[in-house]
Amino acid sequence: MSSKLVLTASPAKQSLKGTVRVPGDKSMSHRAVMFSSLANGTSHVTGLLEGEDVMATLAAFRAMGVEADGPNNGTLTVQGVGMRGLKEPEQDLDMGNSGTAMRLMTGILAAQNFASKLVGDESLSGRPMRRVTVPLTSMGARCATDENGCPPIHIRGVEKLEPITYKLPMASAQIKSAVLLAGLYADGETSVTEPAPTRDHTERMLKAYGYDCETEKLNEQASTIRLSGGGELTATNIDIPSDISSAAFFMVAASIVSGSKLTLEHVCVNPTRTGIIDILKSMGADIRLVNPRAVGGEPVADIEVRYVGLKGCEIDPNLVPLAIDEFPVICIAAACAKGQTVVSGAEELRHKESDRISAMVEGMRNIGVEVEERRDGMVITSGTIKGGEVESHHDHRIAMSFAIAGAVSEGDIIIDGAETVATSFPNFVELANVAGLNIES
Ligand code: S3P
Repeated sequence: MSSKLVLTASPAKQSLKGTVRVPGDKSMSHRAVMFSSLANGTSHVTGLLEGEDVMATLAAFRAMGVEADGPNNGTLTVQGVGMRGLKEPEQDLDMGNSGTAMRLMTGILAAQNFASKLVGDESLSGRPMRRVTVPLTSMGARCATDENGCPPIHIRGVEKLEPITYKLPMASAQIKSAVLLAGLYADGETSVTEPAPTRDHTERMLKAYGYDCETEKLNEQASTIRLSGGGELTATNIDIPSDISSAAFFMVAASIVSGSKLTLEHVCVNPTRTGIIDILKSMGADIRLVNPRAVGGEPVADIEVRYVGLKGCEIDPNLVPLAIDEFPVICIAAACAKGQTVVSGAEELRHKESDRISAMVEGMRNIGVEVEERRDGMVITSGTIKGGEVESHHDHRIAMSFAIAGAVSEGDIIIDGAETVATSFPNFVELANVAGLNIES
């Protein structure tokens, strides 16, 4: 992790204008590194996010003998070693701040015939991991968390795994993916049923690497995903579009800074990720998707956002898994929206890089916003954002959300612990200032 960074976000001097291209999708970037490493042959990845989280995944595969050239301007060439080609790492694998890296890697490593240990930073070391070790153990894996259910994760080698029929206890793409990735190595068919749609990049990208994976819709919400173990991944070329979770900061900024008209270019608009657009639209935002196209097996579009005054709303709890990473910045939109906004059914936010309900409530109160904390969400009442000092709690999205709030604040917002922004969006400050925001580090 980079050394300590403080950001000062000052009121925007102008409206936001022009076109911004945010970095590549984080979820897809992790999976591109993982699947390219396990494939037979050489894969070329473009649009890779060069944030610390993805670099942690890449470093882990290099430590297990994978050779990769790059990343260089988002381009990475990976010499895949095949499903059984990884070597025992000599050191602990450090997943930094990344829950996705740790949980998906646990699924892969639980199926190897060698031992490994996954560690993380202060934030990751406090996050729940039994949600992956429990289903993996029932597949015959030998993996364990610390006594408190958190990292490090100790994994011992196994000869083979048993397939599993698993019903996810909560809507989580990370748990789904960990079980499916272990299922690649199991003797037979593994199936995972999700109670509500979660991001489906694992399923789409497995297919892109030539691996069969089938999704059956059970009703409006639930689906079952099935794959059979024992197959191979085939190297491919993959182009990763921009991350809607990073674009979200700019969608909110353009929706709250008077007179703005901003275009976000080449954004992945996979329907399991676009809850942010639905939520902002239900607050009255003017957001249009233009130039729809397909890139790397994913729907992509340019997103045009024009300023209109937002109004508060009750956010549909069904949209929570489809906008799970965007709630910190949705809170800032809500603070600027006329009336009250109610967030409910969002208890999972307490298990992200920080407890995002308490981190946002604390930060919003520090800058003068009226907010009531609830177990599974909060109620935000619009008012004047006065400014003040906030803490990121080792969470990139908390830091960037308050940087956006600074644009419409009376005074400056000082953000402590902003070095964590480098995990997902290394050029955030630069792009924000180009678009017309006023952020100094
Ligand atoms: C991710 C899944 C989500 C999300 C995370 C990335 C993924 O987590 O919050 O940032 O790439 O699979 P959960 O599956 O725990 O909801």
